[in-house]
Amino acid sequence: MNVLAPGSGVVVTGAARGIGKALATRFVAEGCRVVVADIDADELAIVADSIGAFAVPGDTASASGSAALVEAAREQLGKIDAWYGNAGVDRGRGLEASDHAWLTSYEVNVLAHVRAARLLLPDWVERGAGRFVVTSSSAGLLTLLGSPSYAATEHAEIAFAEWLAATYRHQGVVAQAIVARSVKTAMLERSSGLPGFISAEGALTAEEVADAVWEAGQTSQFWVSLEPDVAEEYAARAADVDTWLDGVNRFRQELDGHA
Ligand SMILES: NC(=O)c1ccc[n+]([C@@H]2O[C@H](COP(=O)([O-])OP(=O)(O)OC[C@H]3O[C@@H](n4cnc5c(N)ncnc54)[C@H](O)[C@@H]3O)[C@@H](O)[C@H]2O)c1
Repeated sequence: MNVLAPGSGVVVTGAARGIGKALATRFVAEGCRVVVADIDADELAIVADSIGAFAVPGDTASASGSAALVEAAREQLGKIDAWYGNAGVDRGRGLEASDHAWLTSYEVNVLAHVRAARLLLPDWVERGAGRFVVTSSSAGLLTLLGSPSYAATEHAEIAFAEWLAATYRHQGVVAQAIVARSVKTAMLERSSGLPGFISAEGALTAEEVADAVWEAGQTSQFWVSLEPDVAEEYAARAADVDTWLDGVNRFRQELDGHA
């Protein structure tokens, strides 16, 4: 069966810290052969050395970086069994977010997956096996107050993963989306400022995410969802979007001191 197992060849992007580092650490501990990638070459080398993974530094979102990573990973692993597109950015705030912030968010949070999938899918379809996992966010199911570029690109990220599942599921390709709201990482520290909504209080650890992702790696379920309240809010949004929007807007007003 097409599941993560000792010996699986796995690639994790954005693995120099945070969730990606925890995923790579867990996969190595489970006996997988792991290639880690990140734009932060120095930190990536430290992680790779400490866990026993193979490092491929570079921009995993660019077309050339994506191609170089797939080529290096195939050389190292023989074949790639699973791809964890985990690198992500949260750039810009409100309507003032620049075009550059929007384009970077789109490239890293969405286009990186498209570029990797183009390179991986032909081989996976031929073999009838492969696993493509994106690290998205509750922002991709709901929204993220303060960051429209993140909310919109995280939605697009999930939409692309759903499209992969809808198109290739019968050919042995598993697509999954990890959706968490708050995980104690550098990104959360940078994004803090929405108390009660996105904050370190009650946040998951990256290791808890890795536990859930490993378990989900034994299945073909689409969602890797960790916080039950996210699933409940997603269902409530689908049932009545205006009531949901009223609630989120009330919260926005509270944060602004208007309610
Ligand atoms: N921390 C949270 O609360 C949270 C919640 C939901 C989803 N997420 C998602 O989880 C993923 C990992 O986030 P994290 O919290 O560990 O963040 P992080 O900022 O701690 O780590 C992200 C890593 O991605 C790397 N990266 C960014 N752009 C890159 C690029 N173009 N090429 C290669 N590497 C690149 C960074 O150098 C960094 O090491 C992201 O996709 C993020 O959107 C995070």
